[in-house]
Parts: sequence; C-alpha cells; structure tokens
Amino acid sequence: MELTREEEAILRGEKGPRLQECMRILTTIGELNGARRLLPVWSVQLSGISFKTMGTQGTEFLEEMAQEARFQVPTTINPAGYDVGGPGLVRTSPEFREKQDRIVKALMTMGAIPTFSCTPYTTEYSPPPGAHLAWAESSAVIYANSILGAYSNREGAPSALASAVIGKTPDYGLHHPEGRRAQIVVDVDTSKGPIRYTVLGAYLGKQLGQRIPFFRGIRPDVDAMKELGSSMSAWGAVPMFHVEGVTPEADRQNLAGLERITVDAQVIGEFQRCLGCDETPQLVAIGCPHCTKGELLEIARAVKKKGRKLPSGTELWVCSNRTVIRETAPAVEILRSAGAKVIQDTCMVVAPLSDQFSVTAVNSAKAAFYIGRKSFSGQKVVFGTTEELVDRYL
Ligand code: F3S
Repeated sequence: MELTREEEAILRGEKGPRLQECMRILTTIGELNGARRLLPVWSVQLSGISFKTMGTQGTEFLEEMAQEARFQVPTTINPAGYDVGGPGLVRTSPEFREKQDRIVKALMTMGAIPTFSCTPYTTEYSPPPGAHLAWAESSAVIYANSILGAYSNREGAPSALASAVIGKTPDYGLHHPEGRRAQIVVDVDTSKGPIRYTVLGAYLGKQLGQRIPFFRGIRPDVDAMKELGSSMSAWGAVPMFHVEGVTPEADRQNLAGLERITVDAQVIGEFQRCLGCDETPQLVAIGCPHCTKGELLEIARAVKKKGRKLPSGTELWVCSNRTVIRETAPAVEILRSAGAKVIQDTCMVVAPLSDQFSVTAVNSAKAAFYIGRKSFSGQKVVFGTTEELVDRYL
C-alpha cells in the first residue's frame, strides 16, 4: 500500500504501540484486499460492545487501548448488554453490570458517542450520501450502502476500532463503484400473496452469501428495506442491495448476463414456518434492528387498540435508541402506561435474556436467527408480525 509519511510513522511505532497496532490491522486488511491507500472516513460504528459478545479478553484489550488511543472521527456504538443510561428495566446480575460498565468506560475515554444503537442512521449522526464509513454493524452497513448511498465495507469489530483510532479505512470493495454492482437479479412474484420483507431477507441471505442482489417486482418503503437488509446481512453476508426504481444506485446497474432467480409467497411462507415454534412466550421483543419512529408508532397503535393494560405474565419490550424514544414521546407514553418496557441502549439479543426467559417472541428474522443460539440466549423462538404478536400474546 502507498502510505503517507504520517501513516508510515505510525506503522513504525512512533506514535506508540496502540496506534501502531491499529495501523497494522488496517494495512494488513488493505494489503489482503488489494487496497492501494487508506481513505479518511466520515464516521465509525462499533459493534460487539456488549460484555456478552466481548468477553473478558476483549474488555482487557479495550482497556489497554483506552490508555493511549483516542477516536479521530465521530464514533457511534452498538447496544450494550443492559440499558446503561436508562432506568434499569433490564434485569442483570451486579457482576454482569460491572463488566459492562468497564467496557463503556473504556469506550467513553476514547471518545465514543453514547448512541448505544444499531441504527445510527436514525440519529443526528446519519451520514450524507457519498460519505465513506467504517461501520461494523451489519444491518447498518447494508442500510448505509443501499438506502443512504454512503460507502462502507462490512467491518469486523477490530478493524472498525482501528479505523476509529486512525480515522481511516483501507480503500477497497464497497468504497468503489465496481464493488457495488448488482451480481444477481431477484424477481419477487407477489401474485400469490404478500411477502414479509424480514422473511424474504432471511431466505435470500442463505442463498446469496455475499452477492449483491437487484430486486424487481417490489416497492418497499424505508422501514421495509431496513427489515429486508438486516435479515439478508444476518442470514448471509450481503453488504448491499438494489431495488428497481427505489434505491439510489439502482438505475446505474447493468443487468445483462446476470443470474436470475424468482421467489414467491409460497416459497417464503414455507420458509417462515422454520423460524418459530408454537409455545407461549414469556417475552415479546420488538425492535431488531432498533425501532425507527414509524415502527415505534406502529406498535403503540397496536397496543392502544387493545384498550387495556398488558397481561402480567408476558413482558413486552420495545427496543430503540435515545433519539427515537425522545422524538416519539406521546407513543412511548401509550406503551409505558399499558405496561410495556420501552428500552434504550440494549436489545433482546445482546442482553442476558436467559436469566429471566426461555421462550421469546419476535417479529424480526434477524432476532430469530440469534436469540435461539446457545451462544446468545438459547431461547425457544416464536415468530410473527407485530400485530399478530400483540393480538395473540398480550
Ligand atoms: Fe440491533 Fe440487537 Fe438486532 S444490535 S440489529 S437489535 S441484534
């Protein structure tokens, strides 16, 4: 790679061992991927900041880094393991809190912005079109590339941290037009019935791996595209998608010679059946990725329609970020008065659910993918739309 004098000095260790380590991470990744230089970034999104995902080794690494390194660009952070700045709605052990608090302290020392959300694009830190980013949260990466027209590779937790400290990312992949080209055409046939975007994304994520799809036959709104993208990036590793007539770069795609597949409501309906079981949930958890304003209003409407307090046997969690919660205060009040927990700074996947629950209902195929895993919460999963879950279980 061609490095500037300053970058070379950092790589030689002249600015200390932590910055040297960060520069080594970035140049190694850059060389492996054929990058010719480092590119300044507009912002960084860090993932994996829950103690559940970071563990003791990760925490110690971060604390060492915080002794010396400071973030050079706006750096937003994913949800933590409990509602760190909230009223303590998520029950955890004191030991878990103490470990989580060490992570938060190290991040704040380095200059992180306390967003604690996987949807930085719903906050004041949403990037403009054309901005180069180093984001690690996969659902946010696919949203930024596809819907905002910003540029980010799918960073890992260490490379995003290194980018925050150096303020740059290796210039390859989705930072270039050729890395953003459609690689397969997906015709969605809605003639046999409606298709749920979160399920469509899960089904396709499994088929596509890292390939970039070009959708025809659908006109999703922004929240539907958030669902579609988050599922594709969790069930596969899709970093971007195009939707004909909808997404910003769709009309620049050349579809000649691309493989084509068709999906319909029957295929997606069958796939949906493998997402959940028939048990009765102790928790209904909405907001993966964190609720947007529109999604939060939708759940408030569904709860209001019930016209009564929620039953005591089942908890309802609505997970979102501080900005959205602040900007939807009347809907939040409806939810809280009905007995729901409107939860900030964490989510149903990275909080230690298994301490309290064994069966959890979700409306998101991404959440369904993770909460059933032993390495997360080992939950039995119930799956449905927001309205179905509120009607059936609350
Ligand atoms: Fe966000 Fe947690 Fe889902 S971080 S994307 S709500 S798993």
